[in-house]
Amino acid sequence: MPHHDIALIGFGGVNRALAEIIHTRGPELADELGFSLGVVAITDLRLGSLMQADGIDLGAVLRMPAGATFAGLPGGAAIPQNDHVIRHTTADIVVEATFTNPVDGEPAVSHVRAALESGKSVTTTNKGPVALAGAELNRLAREHGVRFEYEGSVVSGTPVLRLASEALTGLRVRGVQGILNGTSNYVLGQMESGMSLTDAVAEAQSLGYAEADPTADIEGSDVQLKVVILANEILGADLTTADVERRGISGVTSADIIRAAAEGSRFKLIGSAYRDDDGTVTARVEPMALPLTHPLASVTGPTNAVSFDTDLLGTVTISGPGAGRLETAYALLSDIIAIDAHLRIAGEVVQ
Ligand code: HSE
Repeated sequence: MPHHDIALIGFGGVNRALAEIIHTRGPELADELGFSLGVVAITDLRLGSLMQADGIDLGAVLRMPAGATFAGLPGGAAIPQNDHVIRHTTADIVVEATFTNPVDGEPAVSHVRAALESGKSVTTTNKGPVALAGAELNRLAREHGVRFEYEGSVVSGTPVLRLASEALTGLRVRGVQGILNGTSNYVLGQMESGMSLTDAVAEAQSLGYAEADPTADIEGSDVQLKVVILANEILGADLTTADVERRGISGVTSADIIRAAAEGSRFKLIGSAYRDDDGTVTARVEPMALPLTHPLASVTGPTNAVSFDTDLLGTVTISGPGAGRLETAYALLSDIIAIDAHLRIAGEVVQ
């Protein structure tokens, strides 16, 4: 049976969830997908690094007690050695799920670059490398005959990018608009029920939706990165964050929300990108009072949604989770499945 060895860069919630899925559902997945998966390298800030070309015992790693490191295990070290592991692992797919700095995308950009340069396909859930260096990294992947996949960089495992690139082919997509941040959507809903912005943000943090520093959620910069990705991927634009006007929800008051409700509308933080008649793409992030009949108006809580404005089908909307460890790990699995399919077509998977 065809087989892929993977390297997990970062072993926080998302990659740990992917390891759990592979560990518990491996044989079932192999039957369904027609290929098997093994993990041959793991790096993590706290655990260090581990490289075992014959395959790591995931059960043993998942059971490691808090405070333990990979030091002392065969192929193990107490420090992460990300660059060394990415370049020297025997894996053919690198799964990048480390921290990303929203200003320059590092260290994730360097991890992806190193993997592609050393001839490995990459999947990542990090917005940074895709929004800030997507063109360069896609070019590198093409030059090295490998794949760079990033479904989870927008709306976690909900298949927004693949819906556009696969299911909507043949249509002209004129624009996209969406609820791309669960925290701000949850906060606006709680404010509609009478809660203050501050209390609603604290609640979103305690429920695990918000970033540790929720400024990026509330002021729209998380959505701004996602809009860059949607505009470039779906509309073929070449935008950077500086091209996307941004206004978050901190200026929306309870009085605004109550007035909108009385008028039959609901505030949502909307990220959008549209192709104008002259071919330019205009993108923005802004709070909008949508009529209740709008497909995005009924999307509540931390749920995300994206509407595609198409020529032959009109508006097509997909909604689903935009965060969560298992939900985001599924995005990685869906990318691995896509990488396998592409490499198989190119004849680069051992049958
Ligand atoms: N904090 C983000 C949200 C997580 O609330 O949607 C996904 O980027």
